[in-house]
Amino acid sequence: MASKSHYFPLVIFLLSFSNVTAKSASWSADSRETDFQKWVSWNVQKHREKSTMSQAESTSQALAEAGVKLVDDKLRKAEMHKVRISVCQNGTGDFKTITEALNSIPSYNNRRVILDIKPGVYREKISIPRKLPFITFLGNSSDPPTITGNDTASVAGKDGRPMKTFQSATVAVDANYFVAINMKFENTAPHEIGSIGGQAVALRISGTKAAFYNCSFYGSQDTLYDHKGLHYFNNCFIQGSVDFIFGYGKSLYENCYLNSIAKKVASLTAQKRSTWGDYSRVVFSFTFMDKIVLPRGWSDWGDQKRDTRVFYGEYKCSGPGANLTGRVPWTRILTDEEAMPFIGTYYVDGDTWLISPYKNWITSEPY
Ligand SMILES: *[C@@H]1O[C@H](CO)[C@@H](O)[C@H](O)[C@H]1NC(C)=O
Ligand SMILES: *[C@@H]1O[C@H](CO)[C@@H](O)[C@H](O)[C@H]1NC(C)=O
Ligand SMILES: *[C@@H]1O[C@H](CO)[C@@H](O)[C@H](O)[C@H]1NC(C)=O
Ligand SMILES: *[C@@H]1O[C@H](CO)[C@@H](O)[C@H](O)[C@H]1NC(C)=O
Ligand SMILES: *[C@@H]1O[C@H](CO)[C@@H](O)[C@H](O)[C@H]1NC(C)=O
Repeated sequence: MASKSHYFPLVIFLLSFSNVTAKSASWSADSRETDFQKWVSWNVQKHREKSTMSQAESTSQALAEAGVKLVDDKLRKAEMHKVRISVCQNGTGDFKTITEALNSIPSYNNRRVILDIKPGVYREKISIPRKLPFITFLGNSSDPPTITGNDTASVAGKDGRPMKTFQSATVAVDANYFVAINMKFENTAPHEIGSIGGQAVALRISGTKAAFYNCSFYGSQDTLYDHKGLHYFNNCFIQGSVDFIFGYGKSLYENCYLNSIAKKVASLTAQKRSTWGDYSRVVFSFTFMDKIVLPRGWSDWGDQKRDTRVFYGEYKCSGPGANLTGRVPWTRILTDEEAMPFIGTYYVDGDTWLISPYKNWITSEPY
C-alpha cells in the first residue's frame, strides 16, 4: 500500500484498562511511589485469592460444562429463560429493524433476549436503555451484519444543540449484561486533522458485565467508547485514528487487533481513569506491535505531573514497536507476578459473569 496509513496489526493484543482504586486521586508527591507499590501488591494479592477461590470452585465444573457457570444470580435466571427473535430486512424474520425488535421487549425484562440479526447493513441509531438488560446481538460469522451511522460530536441533536461525543454513538448501550457476537459497528464520519467536534463513536458501552466476541468497530476519532463497567472483548477488530479506544471502563481485550489509520502521530488508547487521563492505566501483554508504535511508546501530553500517576505496563510484547530502547522512563515493564492479575478474565471478574457464547446462545433453539 502506498498510502501513508499506519497499520498496527496486533496478532495478540491484550489491553487491560483498570480503575481499581479511585483513592489514588489524593496521592501526594512523596507517597506516590510507595502507594504504587502498595497498589501492585494489593493487585497481586487479590489475584492470588481469586485463583485459590476458583480452584476450590472447580468441583462445580460439571455445572460449568452444562453451560451454567458461576454466574451471578440474576444472570443465571436470565439465561435459564432465554428467548430468541430474528431481525431480517427482507421481511422473513420477526422484525425488519433492530430498533423494532428492541421496542418489542418489555421494560425491566429479566430474560436473555437473543436478537438473531440476519446479514445486511442496518442504518439505525440504536440505544439500549438501562431498563433493557440481558440483550444479545447475534450475527452470522460468515457475513456479520453492520450497524452504521455517521453522527459526530458537533452535529446538532434533537434539541438543536451539539450532540457531544457521548451522543454521537451509532450504538449506545446503557444496559447491563449486553453481549454482541459477529457484529460490525460503524461510524463513517471522516476525521479531519485539527477539526473540532469530529469525535464520532461507533459504539458506546456504559453498562457493566458486557462481552463482545468476533466484533469489529470501525471509525476515526473515538471509535470505541469503553465508558464504564466490566467489559470483555474477544477476537475483535478495532479501527480508528485518534484516541480510538477511550473511556473509564475496566476491560480486557483478548486476541484483538488494533488498526490505526492515523495520518500523523496519534494515540491508540486514551484511558481516562479520573479527569483528563491523569490516572490512566493500560497494560499491553503478549502484544505484537508493528513499527508504527513510536519508540517512546507513551505520551503525557506535556504534563510531567502525570508520569508518576499513570500506570502504563508492558509485558512480553513483540515486534518492531515493542523495542524498549527509547521508551519513556515511566513505562512499567511488568514482572510475571505483576502481570498475572491483568492477563486473564479474572481481571474483569469474569468468573462470575462470563459464559460461553456457544453453549448459551449460538446453538440455542429458536423461540
Ligand atoms: C431473506 O434473508 C434471509 C437471511 O439473509 C435469507 O436466508 C432468505 O433467503 C431471504 N429471503 C428472501 C425471500 O429474499
Ligand atoms: C450464515 O450465512 C451463510 C451465508 O450467507 C449461510 O450459509 C449460513 O447458513 C448462515 N448461518 C447461520 C447460522 O445463519
Ligand atoms: C451521513 O449519512 C447521511 C445518510 O446516509 C447522509 O445523507 C449525510 O450526507 C452523511 N453526512 C456526512 C457528514 O457524511
Ligand atoms: C468467530 O469467528 C470464527 C471465524 O469466522 C468462527 O469460527 C467462530 O465460531 C466465531 N465465534 C463465535 C463466538 O461466533
Ligand atoms: C532496539 O532499538 C535499538 C535502537 O534503535 C537498536 O539498537 C536495537 O538493536 C533494537 N533491538 C532489537 C532487539 O531489535
